Amino acid sequence: MSFNKLDKSKTYLITGAAGFIGFFLSKQLLEQGCPVIGIDNMNAYYDVRLKYARLEQLKLYELFTFIKGDISDQEMVSRAFEEYQPNVVVNLAAQAGVRYSIEHPDVYIQSNIVGFFNILEACRHNPVEHLVYASSSSVYGNQQKTPFSVTDKVDQPISLYAASKKSNELMAYTYSHLYGIPATGLRFFTVYGPFGRPDMAYFSFTEKIMAGQPISIYNHGDLYRDFTYIDDIICALEHILPSPPKADETGTRHKVYNIGNNRPERLELLVETLEKCLGKTAKKEYLPMQAGDVYQTYADVTELINDFEFRPDTTLLYGLKVFVEWYREYNRQAD
Ligand SMILES: NC(=O)c1ccc[n+]([C@@H]2O[C@H](COP(=O)([O-])OP(=O)(O)OC[C@H]3O[C@@H](n4cnc5c(N)ncnc54)[C@H](O)[C@@H]3O)[C@@H](O)[C@H]2O)c1
Repeated sequence: MSFNKLDKSKTYLITGAAGFIGFFLSKQLLEQGCPVIGIDNMNAYYDVRLKYARLEQLKLYELFTFIKGDISDQEMVSRAFEEYQPNVVVNLAAQAGVRYSIEHPDVYIQSNIVGFFNILEACRHNPVEHLVYASSSSVYGNQQKTPFSVTDKVDQPISLYAASKKSNELMAYTYSHLYGIPATGLRFFTVYGPFGRPDMAYFSFTEKIMAGQPISIYNHGDLYRDFTYIDDIICALEHILPSPPKADETGTRHKVYNIGNNRPERLELLVETLEKCLGKTAKKEYLPMQAGDVYQTYADVTELINDFEFRPDTTLLYGLKVFVEWYREYNRQAD
């Protein structure tokens, strides 16, 4: 992977820098000699040791500055913008997870709505060249039409997480329109890979299979996900960060892209591939569909191809092999 299109004279502010995607993006930017200001509140939604381990790696770079803070703290956010005057901002900090939003709705409002509002306000008062922010494939809800296109109407989110992400797109559009902030929203589709998130199925299944515990397979395995490998996400960001959107017919500079593999896989295939990579058979517990979960995700990436001649294409087998290698090594070191 190369980041040769990125400008080293610019300062990049990445929120959620100790998170899965934020870590890989920060690392890639730092490798290319770009200064990175990382913000993260290091919350314990999943094993915080993983976040500290990522942070340790980022702190090896002189050009990395870390602020431990919460983006719902308006004062902290505006101080960071005033002090570092970032040129490019990537907002990845959010409370993720569909199922968790059923039990803990408040944190989605704080981090995803209030937090994102603070980022927009900071961009308004400290003009940036490009604001890129994470949305999600979950905005498509239970849409029947596939593949999911950014031109589809998405007004029926079925979880508060999805509603918060759709709200972010609306808020970003408004701020772009009113204050001329060039902004791009990215609808990520089930991102996986090494150093990933333990709350996601591929990771928790791996832990359970290794421990000989049963894995819960929802909707009796009849679920489809467009699994997207982390390197493809970073490549997409490589194309998008230096390319703020052009003005639309109303003069607004806002655009949304799907970042997905364009190849939905049945949940059973994920399990079979993991079993192959781990050399162990899973004990399976078949359960009904969970509230807030969608039946399938499938990205139409036409816009990404048209604008950047890029499409994610890593196979599930390759991506899971790399994940399993990392998982074994990480756990060896932890022992
Ligand atoms: N991984 C995926 O499959 C996926 C899919 C769709 C969308 N997304 C979105 O992409 C972004 C990054 O996801 P990820 O997989 O890296 O998740 P992650 O949970 O690993 O990373 C998010 C990071 O943000 C931090 N954070 C959360 N709330 C914060 C707050 N209020 N202030 C400061 N820091 C805060 C967390 O501590 C975490 O380190 C999120 O916005 C997520 O909703 C991810």
